Amino acid sequence: MSAPASIFPPTPDYVPFRAGPFRLAMGLQPLDLRDWIEPDERMIVELAEKERLLRERHHEVFAVLPEAQASSAELLTLLLDYLPQRFPALYRRDGTLFQNLATGQRWDLARTALHPLDLAGRLVQEDLCLMQREPHTGVYCLVGASVCFPTRWRIAEKMGKPLSVIHGPVPGYEEQLAATVDRYFARLKVEKPVWRTNWSILDDPTLFQPTGHGRRGYNPDITPVNAGEKLWFRMERQTLRRLPQTQDIVFTIRVYVRPLYELAQCPERAATLAAAVRALPEPMRLYKSLPPFLDALLAWLDNVAAGRQHTVSVSSVH
Ligand code: HEM
Repeated sequence: MSAPASIFPPTPDYVPFRAGPFRLAMGLQPLDLRDWIEPDERMIVELAEKERLLRERHHEVFAVLPEAQASSAELLTLLLDYLPQRFPALYRRDGTLFQNLATGQRWDLARTALHPLDLAGRLVQEDLCLMQREPHTGVYCLVGASVCFPTRWRIAEKMGKPLSVIHGPVPGYEEQLAATVDRYFARLKVEKPVWRTNWSILDDPTLFQPTGHGRRGYNPDITPVNAGEKLWFRMERQTLRRLPQTQDIVFTIRVYVRPLYELAQCPERAATLAAAVRALPEPMRLYKSLPPFLDALLAWLDNVAAGRQHTVSVSSVH
């Protein structure tokens, strides 16, 4: 299956890290709803990978509680309206037939047996989570998740839990962010959606990564010479919007994985990333499993920043 690359919007060139002191922050920016979903030329590969994961390990990548039935249907309805309007070269709706023109997938909306959140997750490269206010405590809990590309977490461990528990493993979250995020969720307005980013550096480009925090030790396979080819920059572009009818909150996560050697074309970015990594507190470095290759990573970035590393080995450029 193939489609001309030109039908896809270009992949945005995000630079989600910065030099300067580390600060655990919400980092929210206003979202133009036209940019809610971000398809790109990886769509065919990534949606095929979603289908594979949903077929082979459905319970690991999809879960929904009964109380998310209405918001799942609301989310699906929004996507079915938005996608063909915003990306007419990629999606088409004819009555009850919905098509992804790039992948060739077709769904009869009147007949599909899929849960609405499951179908919604198959339409887009984004992973989708539904958060619902718990009436007694007022905190927001995870009530639905179509998450095929987790960055080191499992939906089974988070389902039904409030935001502060979901973020339990994140160093500093409870002390520095939990109260602010809870307040933000309580006040998020339908007409004021937002987006933010997370980033990390991993030694594995696999999209589905349910584990892997807290790695110590030393990986001798990654050196100051080959770190650009053996490491990947992984970024999440996340959006938050409140659904107008059910008032539940949709959290989308779009994962971008790029080989680190792409930074070799941009010494300033390598310098900024090196500064950002150096500024990470020790617990955060461990959370992100940087220790096994931290020295090699920094040496490689410093070389690129100083203009000493221009090339990558031919085997990695495909
Ligand atoms: C304003 C909203 C939010 C903020 C500021 C926030 C912040 C963060 C931060 C800083 C991390 C650590 C990531 C890293 O640096 O590697 C993280 C991880 C995570 N976040 Fe959030 N987050 C938000 C919303 C959400 C929502 C709505 C969910 C719902 C599912 C969620 C689920 C997670 C999970 C599962 C992890 C990984 C936790 C683990 O390692 O077990 N986040 N978040």
